[in-house]
Amino acid sequence: MTTLVTGIGELATLDDTLDRADHGEGLGLLHDAAVVVGDTDEILWVGRAAAAPEADHRRDVGGRAVIPAFVDSHTHLVFAGDRSGEFAARMTGTAYDGGGIATTVSATREASDDELRALLGGRLAEMRRQGSNVIEIKSGYGLSVEGEERAMRLAREVTDEVTFLGGHVVPTEFASRRSEYVDLVTGPMLVAAREHARWIDVFCEPRSAHAFTVDESRTILEAGRAAGLGLRVHGNQLGPGPGVRLAVELGAASVDHCTHLTVADVEALSAAAGTTVATLLPGVEFATRSPYPDGRALVDAGVSIALATDCNPGTCFSSSMPFVLALAVREMRLTPAEALRAATVGAAASLRRDDIGIIRTGARPGLTVLDAPSHAHLAYRPGVPLARLLDLDVVDLDAATSAPRPRGPDLSS
Ligand code: NIG
Ligand code: FE
Repeated sequence: MTTLVTGIGELATLDDTLDRADHGEGLGLLHDAAVVVGDTDEILWVGRAAAAPEADHRRDVGGRAVIPAFVDSHTHLVFAGDRSGEFAARMTGTAYDGGGIATTVSATREASDDELRALLGGRLAEMRRQGSNVIEIKSGYGLSVEGEERAMRLAREVTDEVTFLGGHVVPTEFASRRSEYVDLVTGPMLVAAREHARWIDVFCEPRSAHAFTVDESRTILEAGRAAGLGLRVHGNQLGPGPGVRLAVELGAASVDHCTHLTVADVEALSAAAGTTVATLLPGVEFATRSPYPDGRALVDAGVSIALATDCNPGTCFSSSMPFVLALAVREMRLTPAEALRAATVGAAASLRRDDIGIIRTGARPGLTVLDAPSHAHLAYRPGVPLARLLDLDVVDLDAATSAPRPRGPDLSS
C-alpha cells in the first residue's frame, strides 16, 4: 500500500544533499513538494509535486510544512507515581540531587505490568500527538534484577531503542553496600539486559551521593560494552565532572545533559564529533532551574549535538519536542534550523541510525505535519500545538485525533 502525500508547502527533508533552497542551513528544503510513503513508514519517493508518481492513495496536507518526525533519543517512560510536590519545592529553592528517584522506584515497584504498560502507552500517544516517532526508552526505576528486566521488557514492546539504566542511582537498600550494587548491575541485571536492550547508560555524577563515581561508571560501561551493548552516559548534569570525558574516552554514542561544561570538555566533544554526540536536554534546565549550556558555543566548536526531552517524573515531565526546540532556540542560542537538525538527524546520529530523522528514499522516519507554513514556527510559536505525527490511516487531517479509519479512497482530494 502506497500513499502520495501532497500539498506540502515547505518540506524540510534534512537531506543535505538536497541543499539548494535553504542557504546552507542543512535542512534540504523543498517547496511544493510531495512524498510517497509505503508500508511501515518507508519513504519511496521525494520531490516536486509536479513530478510525483501515482500511488494507491493520496493525502493533501493543504499547504502545511512537513518535517521528518522528531527522534526523542532520551526518555525514562517506564514509571509510576508523581513528583509534582518535588517540582513545586524546587521552584521555591530546593536543589535537585537525584534523591527523589527513590520515590519513583517505590511507586514503580508497586505497579503491575498492566499498569505500567498503560502509563507507557499513554505517554507514547502523547508524544506522537506532538510529532515524535522513534523514542529511546531507559529502564532505571526498578533497580532490582526483576524490576529492571520488567522495565526493559515493557519498553521493548514499543521500541527498538531500549537502554539499560540499572546504573541510575544506588537503591536505598544498597546505600552502605555500593560495590555490591555495582556487582549486581554488571552481573545478573546485565544478563537480563542482553535480552532486551541495545544500550547501557549510567548516571555519572560525583556530586550526588545517589549517583555513580567515575570509577563505578567506568566499571558499569565497560561491562556493558563487553556484553555487546552500545554506550550512553548521563554526564555533567549537576556540576562540572568527569562524565563527558569518560564518555568520549570510551567512544560512547552519546553523553547527555552536558549542563556544566569546561573548556576541556568542549574540546574533547569537538575532537569526538562524529562519534560521541552531546545530547542537550533543555527541558531539564527549565524544570530544575539550572543554567542552560551554551549550545551556540558547542555548534561553533563543531560538536555533534542532539536535542531530546528526557521525559521523566523528576527533572522534566514534558513529552514535547516542540517545547524543547523552542527552549534550545531561546535559551541555548541555536537557530531554528540548528534546533530542528539536532532534534531529527542529530538525535538519530546519537542512536547511530541514518534511517530516521531524515526524509530520503529508503528511510523510515515517519512524517510530522506542522499547522504552519515553515519549520521556524516551532520556536516562533512556543506552546502552540502545531506538530503532529501524520497518521496515514486517518483520512481527514483536521480530525487527526479521531480513531483510525480503514484505508479507503482519499475523500480530501
Ligand atoms: O536524566 N539524572 C538522572 N536521571 C534523570 C532524572 C530522573 C528522576 O529524577 O527521576 C535525568 O535527569
Ligand atoms: Fe535522563
